[in-house]
Amino acid sequence: MNVLRIDSSLHGADGASSRLAATCVEALCATGAVHRVVVRDLAADPVPHLTAERFAAFLAKPEERTPAQQAAVAASDALIDELRAADTIVLGLPMYNFGVPSKLKAYFDHVARAGVTFRYTASGPQGLLTGKRAVVLAARGGRYEGTPRDTQTAYIRDFLRFVGIEDVTFVYAEGLAMGEGPREAALRGARAAIGRLVAEPLAA
Ligand SMILES: Cc1cc2nc3c(=O)[nH]c(=O)nc-3n(C[C@H](O)[C@H](O)[C@H](O)COP(=O)(O)O)c2cc1C
Repeated sequence: MNVLRIDSSLHGADGASSRLAATCVEALCATGAVHRVVVRDLAADPVPHLTAERFAAFLAKPEERTPAQQAAVAASDALIDELRAADTIVLGLPMYNFGVPSKLKAYFDHVARAGVTFRYTASGPQGLLTGKRAVVLAARGGRYEGTPRDTQTAYIRDFLRFVGIEDVTFVYAEGLAMGEGPREAALRGARAAIGRLVAEPLAA
């Protein structure tokens, strides 16, 4: 199994979501089923915002791209190649200001490419990155799971499904800003959930 860990915490590897992502990858590695791990740290190596010129580059014929557009497409292609090579995606997902980190959104904007990661068909869009699993480690200061205020879960599921990744499991660490006791309990619970999911079908 090839694993791609994507961190999007502004604290880099020190973020709670990144630490849980690391725990998940370690647990996967302990099964002996992991062949390769790649870490994409969006804080250390941010993806720029999508601009009109960058988006036009995705749509342009290769021979018509400016040098800047060629570079933009090459960067997007590299991110997509990395994603395509992964069997399992381990995504660290902080909540910032009621949404996903803007760095993660910028990343998504560069891997959603018509004709590359999805295509339009008569029956609607079809994702092309099939046969993958994703585990999402959602770290939040408050508590949102299962409520209409959880802006992240449906969005992440929709995005991943759009590019063909249908098998998505969420692990939540909530209430991290609600005091030491709740924080420790939430992290303990998330680590236990990771242990259970790695022991079950993910390691198969
Ligand atoms: C800039 C910023 C905005 C935040 N906004 C929210 C929020 O809207 N809701 C929430 O529950 N927690 C919020 N938090 C708390 C984070 O979700 C919490 O610290 C979590 O651990 C972040 O993940 P990380 O540690 O991996 O960065 C925010 C934290 C920061 C730094």
